[in-house]
Amino acid sequence: MAIDSSPARTLLPAATLTPITPTFGHSVAGIDLTVLSAQDIVDISDLIASRGVIHFKGPHGIDTIDKQIAFSKNFGELHKFPSVRAHDGYPDVLKLHADAQSEFSFGSGGWHADCTFEQLPVKYTLLRVTTTPPDGGGDTSFAFMPAVLSKLNPSLRAVFAQLQGFHPSRHVYDSDYGRAHRKEEDGPGGFPDAVKSPVYPSAVHPCVVTHPRSGLQALYVNSSFTTHLLGMSKFESRALLDLAELLTASSSECQLRVRWNEGDLTMWDNRLVQHTGNWDYKPHVRTAFRTTVVCRDKLVYDLEGKGRGEEAEL
Ligand SMILES: [Fe+2]
Repeated sequence: MAIDSSPARTLLPAATLTPITPTFGHSVAGIDLTVLSAQDIVDISDLIASRGVIHFKGPHGIDTIDKQIAFSKNFGELHKFPSVRAHDGYPDVLKLHADAQSEFSFGSGGWHADCTFEQLPVKYTLLRVTTTPPDGGGDTSFAFMPAVLSKLNPSLRAVFAQLQGFHPSRHVYDSDYGRAHRKEEDGPGGFPDAVKSPVYPSAVHPCVVTHPRSGLQALYVNSSFTTHLLGMSKFESRALLDLAELLTASSSECQLRVRWNEGDLTMWDNRLVQHTGNWDYKPHVRTAFRTTVVCRDKLVYDLEGKGRGEEAEL
């Protein structure tokens, strides 16, 4: 995908931008994502750093896996999932498919940010839905974690800001859920050739992170991957994580739902939002393709919270 270096031509100002809620999320229509200038990439990065979710409504030009990969690479290196089979021939792509025979639907198991078990987690996820269920359903729910953080009493906010969370992945993927997203022919460990050995990474991250571009501060513990808070007793840790989960799941004023039309592409910033899929359409079919972009900025909590207006490796 060619990048036009002309600084004068920008697509985003000419597109139709609509806030999804006053708090976060934008829908964007009338943009061709296959013809982008360097300024367009900066504009999209700035928008998502403040709004968290961009729902690109079709048509937007990204109608193949190769085009999705090319668009995603504008924002950095693509992540290879360590414990789930990649889409055939595309090591950077997950195919998310659920139908009448499915026992699990990938990503619908509860609120989470993607791949927080990685030392360098993913900053952006790009999901393109190619088949939607005929009677609706299959929405993706999002929660804006700066708004969730702001719901905490300041003294509790200060407690979270001093803590670090442990984010393992074995408990999620060395399970029937994980095995359902591998295949028998992948071998005893259930891993394809692209993944040489069973790998279940784990990582430690601050419980409050500061977005490097916008300076927004967000609660960064999630119910899928964060199992413990460092330095806390089991009971203290459980109580604080339960509080974070309760606030995330129950604060409807901090949430939005993306309702998909076939071909839509939604991009979200995992440092600002959590999400969960809604598997409410069985026995019908929903198919999507997912790419994710590695975060080269180490996640930190910055008390000043100003951000520096840019990110590593754009
Ligand atoms: Fe996810």
